[in-house]
Amino acid sequence: MKLPAATTHLLRGKSRRLKWCTACVVTIVIIAIIAIPLAVILPRNSAAAKGLKSKILVPLYIYPEPGAWDPLYEVVTSHPNRHFIVILNPNSGPGSSSLPADQYVNQIQKLNDFPNVQSVGYVRTGYATRNISDVLGDVAVYSGWDTSANATMGSGLAVHGIFFDEAPSEYSTANAEYMLTINHAVKNSIGILGDKTIIQNPGTIPDPRLVDSTTDYSVVFEGSYKEFNERQSLLTALPLDRKRYSFVIHSIPENLSTADIKKFAAKASRKSDLLSLIDLDANFYERFSPNWSSYVDIIPS
Ligand SMILES: *[C@@H]1O[C@H](CO)[C@@H](O)[C@H](O)[C@H]1NC(C)=O
Ligand SMILES: *[C@@H]1O[C@H](CO)[C@@H](O)[C@H](O)[C@H]1NC(C)=O
Ligand SMILES: *[C@@H]1O[C@H](CO)[C@@H](O)[C@H](O)[C@H]1NC(C)=O
Ligand SMILES: *[C@@H]1O[C@H](CO)[C@@H](O)[C@H](O)[C@H]1NC(C)=O
Repeated sequence: MKLPAATTHLLRGKSRRLKWCTACVVTIVIIAIIAIPLAVILPRNSAAAKGLKSKILVPLYIYPEPGAWDPLYEVVTSHPNRHFIVILNPNSGPGSSSLPADQYVNQIQKLNDFPNVQSVGYVRTGYATRNISDVLGDVAVYSGWDTSANATMGSGLAVHGIFFDEAPSEYSTANAEYMLTINHAVKNSIGILGDKTIIQNPGTIPDPRLVDSTTDYSVVFEGSYKEFNERQSLLTALPLDRKRYSFVIHSIPENLSTADIKKFAAKASRKSDLLSLIDLDANFYERFSPNWSSYVDIIPS
C-alpha cells in the first residue's frame, strides 16, 4: 500500500529526526567526555589563579605623630570589605603605665571606629624565656585599657586580641605550659574585647604540640620573598587548615610584575588566611610602603 505523500513525508521526517537524535546523543556523549574532566580541573585552576580570600595583617610599629597613620586610615576606608588585623605596639608592648601616651589614645580610638579593623596588642615572650609575670602583666595592661577608659576619654580604647611575638617553635613541656598559660590569660581577660584573637609568632613552623587550639593563628613564616620561595616545600606540608596560619612576607622584589606578585599571593593564600605582603626591604613595620594600597589589592579577596 502506498502511503499518502504527507505521511511519507512525516515518517521520513521522523526517521531523519531519529538519525539527527542519534548524532545528537553521540555529540552529547563526546562533549561530556571532554567537558566533565575539564569541569573538574578548570574551577580548581581558576580558584588557584585567584587565590583564597585572606585577611590582612598590619604590624603598625609606627608612633602616631600627626598624619603618621593616615596611609592606614585611607586604605581601610577605601577597602571596606577587607578585614584588617592591626598590631598595636606602643613601646615594645603596651608600655609600663596603665594607659599609652595621649597621641596613642586618640589614634587607637579612631582606628577602633572602623568596623573592618581589629586591633591586637603586641607582647614579646622572648621564645618563652621572658619572665611570665611580665608577659601576663602586659596582657593585663592591654585589658586595662578598656576598663580604665573613662567618660572623659570615651570608649574605643581597647584591643581585640594579642599578638605574641617571639613565640617558641621547639617543644618542651615548659614551653607548652608557658604558651598555654598566657593564651588562657588572654581568653579570660574581660577587657580584651570581641574574639580575643590570639596570634603567636614563632616566625617559622612550630612543633605541632605547641599549637594549642586556643591559638587562633600561628605566623609560620616571617621573612623575605626569597626565603619564602626557598621554604615552600615545608609550607605546603603544613598540617592544619589555612585558617590557622599567617605569613608575613617582606622584601618582595620591585622588578616582579603585578601579575607575578598576584600569582605569588594566590599561592600563599592557599595556606594562610592572614597575610602581610610588603615590598620594603628594611624597617618593614615602621613605615608604609608607597605601594601599600596596591598590595592590599593584590592579596586575594
Ligand atoms: C619574675 O617576676 C616576678 C614578679 O616581678 C618575680 O617575683 C620573680 O622572681 C621573677 N622571676 C624570675 C625567674 O626572675
Ligand atoms: C580618666 O580620664 C582622664 C582624662 O583623660 C585621665 O586623666 C584619668 O586618669 C582617667 N581616669 C582613669 C581612672 O583612667
Ligand atoms: C629581579 O632582580 C633580581 C636581583 O635583585 C634578579 O635576581 C632577578 O633575576 C630579577 N628578576 C627579573 C624578573 O628581572
Ligand atoms: C610600586 O611602586 C613602583 C614605583 O612607583 C611602581 O613602579 C610599581 O609598579 C609598584 N608596584 C606595585 C606592585 O604596585
